[in-house]
Amino acid sequence: MKLEKLNDLYKQIATLTQGEYITGSGNVDAKILLVGEAPGAKEIELKEPFVGQAGKNLNEFLEILQIKREDLFITNVVKIRPHKTNEKTGRKINRPPTQEEVRLFSNILKEEINIISPKIIVTLGNTPLKSVMANNKLTIGAVHGQILEKDDLLIFPLYHPASIIYNQNLKETYLDDLNKLKKIINIDVFL
Ligand code: URA
Repeated sequence: MKLEKLNDLYKQIATLTQGEYITGSGNVDAKILLVGEAPGAKEIELKEPFVGQAGKNLNEFLEILQIKREDLFITNVVKIRPHKTNEKTGRKINRPPTQEEVRLFSNILKEEINIISPKIIVTLGNTPLKSVMANNKLTIGAVHGQILEKDDLLIFPLYHPASIIYNQNLKETYLDDLNKLKKIINIDVFL
């Protein structure tokens, strides 16, 4: 049922965008829905979220939480790879998604959340936090590691794992937040 609904929903993506895109992936009955920002090159190539460098960070995330990838459903706010072209090399480089790109996919994300109906949504970084909460004023620096609520759903904002690579000072905070999340998902309601 959920799978059929998702597949129907994902057919809409092709009409929204001309280029290559990826969909969400994982266990449709998962209690935890992980929402990232947008795919990079590797994700587009393999048509799977979080399989490039960011996927390595995700594995660390799963290890700390002591859960398996099969226990999650994983998606991104933006389903295409936001990129620009390096003038010198001609190669594509990632860039953050624009507001229009986020808006283009916001209904798809809302529907994905409805279909999966998880117990908790873990947002990674600012883009999914703002989009899932439908509030552009929220910042990850202010609300990371706190339980938020939106339409009867629990939202747990984490820094994006990639930001830890660029800012090692965040690592300790990120690990503290992950340990908080671990406690939350180990309470009865999640078993
Ligand atoms: N970063 C994201 O936010 N999502 C991916 O799928 C890969 C990297």
